[in-house]
Formats: sequence, C-alpha cells, structure tokens
Amino acid sequence: MKEGNSREALAVNGFAGPFPRFASDDTIGELREFFQDMLDHQPEHPLYKRYSVRDWHLVNEKVRELLTAPELIASLQEATGAESLILWRSKLFEKYPGDGAIDWHQEYGYFDGEEVGGHRPALFPLHPSSSWDWTLWLSLTDVSEDDGVMEFVKGSQQTVYPKRMVTLTESGAYVDPRNRVKTKEELQQRAANNSLILDIDTRRVFDGVDFDKYTLDELFDLLAQRCADLRAVVTEPFELAPGATEITPMKAGEYIIFTERCMHRSRASLPDARMRLAVNARYTLGDTWVYPQRSSSDTFDGSNLDIRDHKCVPVLGDRFHPDNAYL
Ligand SMILES: [Fe+2]
Repeated sequence: MKEGNSREALAVNGFAGPFPRFASDDTIGELREFFQDMLDHQPEHPLYKRYSVRDWHLVNEKVRELLTAPELIASLQEATGAESLILWRSKLFEKYPGDGAIDWHQEYGYFDGEEVGGHRPALFPLHPSSSWDWTLWLSLTDVSEDDGVMEFVKGSQQTVYPKRMVTLTESGAYVDPRNRVKTKEELQQRAANNSLILDIDTRRVFDGVDFDKYTLDELFDLLAQRCADLRAVVTEPFELAPGATEITPMKAGEYIIFTERCMHRSRASLPDARMRLAVNARYTLGDTWVYPQRSSSDTFDGSNLDIRDHKCVPVLGDRFHPDNAYL
C-alpha cells in the first residue's frame, strides 16, 4: 500500500491494506506455534479463568509486542488519522480445513456480543457521531482464497444493513463443531472447558447425559437441542452488484485495517486447505470508555467473559479516558 493512500482507502472502501510484514519470520512462526498449541490444549486463560482465545496480548509479551509494534501503530495512525488510540481487545481467529464461512456481518462499534445474543456494549465513545474503533487483522499463515480469506463489501460502512434474530446455530458467526471434534471424549472435554462453541458457556450443556448410551452424532444432535433456545443475530440476505466485493489474500505477517461497520466475512475453507490462523486486534480512540459496566458489580461482557481483570493498552497519544484500567 502506497504512503498516504491508506486513509483514503479506509474512508472510501472501509478497509485498507494488506500492509507489508514488519515482524521477522521467526516471530510470526513463534506466535503461530503459540496459538496452535493453545487450540490443541485449550489452557485456562489466566485473566478469565476459563478457556478463551481472547486478549492473550495481556498475558504474553510477544503477542503484545506484535500488536503494539511501532510500524503497526504508524499504519493505524496513518489510516485512521486518530491522535490517541488504545488496544482494548485481541482475539485468535482460527479456521480449520473444511470450516464454514463466518458469514456477512457488520458491527457499528459497541461490541455488545449480539452475534451470540449478547447485549452489553463494550465501548462508550465520547463522540458517537464519528468512528471510534478499528480492527487490525494480521495473518499468521499465508491466506489464499481457498482457506478462509477475508472479503469486504466496498463502501458498505455507510449503510446499516437489516438484521434479525435467529437461533444461535443459524447465525452467521456460528462455526459447526462437527467439523472439528472427532471423538466423544473430545466433545465432552471441549464442552467442559468452553472450547466447543465460540463465546458460549457449554460447561453444563451435557449435564445428566450418559455418554456411553449415545453415538457421537447423537450427542451432536443433543447439543443442538440444548442450544436451541440460544438466540443470535444474522444479517438479512442482500444483493451484490458485480465487483462490489474485494478479497484480501495475504502472506503470513501481512495485515489489513478495517472498520467493522464495513460489511465483511471470512470465506469457508476447502476440506483439503491449510489451517488458517490470524490474530485480530481492536483499537479505539483514547477517550473511549471501555467496559463501562465494570463500574457496577456486573463484570461479564456480551461474550460471556468475566472482564474484571481486563486492561487497556495505550498505544498512541496521551489523552486517555480516566475511568479505564490500563496496563
Ligand atoms: Fe467481524
């Protein structure tokens, strides 16, 4: 991306990049291993006291260094024009071979967890009339159009698309665990440690179920029945003119910057594709109040995580909301 073009790209299209890799091959490789290991072993998150792929930048220095690197912050400043920024969330986005799409969605900037039925805004901006949050999506593997590439509807950040509530399993963000879980033991373990369905507490979903009496398929059906009353939001189908979208294939270590107001999705991965790993980081203006509900005794966010120990990381400027907790 040429100097100075990223601000125009972000303003016009809603996304900018890919930007070149700035971290060494070794660093990217090390982080790829770190996150792959997390997926394989599902450790408890030290801050959240349960398995979570969120906010490892608050725990692991290498992850934090990557997401606060001067090159990356310079790109953010250039693209957004912001004078102060805080890193408030990061998340691993993994796509196994054969995983379906995370379907079309947009997020106007409150991050209330509506994609899994949540209603708790994570951000209170000082000036709601303008943009206050941007996402950076950095690939830890090469990403082609066959293994979960990101796709954007150019300019769609100007339009609010109609949505409706559906059962969780019909929502655009739902990834069917049948593609990933191959044994009953694994299913039981993943339900128990909350690594089965992203952002959903499944610790009690098999309460009273005798695993010996059912096949794996029957247990998945039981899971679907027990999740049937969970609701989530889905974007209504919409027409796309030819050329309206753009995909962003990239090499490991490259990244894009976008506003989640821009309609976007990650495409499905082919059954014989590579594992795709990407880390996503969210930056908001320094004067944004992060997790305002934490000032009450209610410390759960819209994605069912207890954020009482969450902290923001200042990355640019010197004017920051006084009520946030900082690292
Ligand atoms: Fe998204």
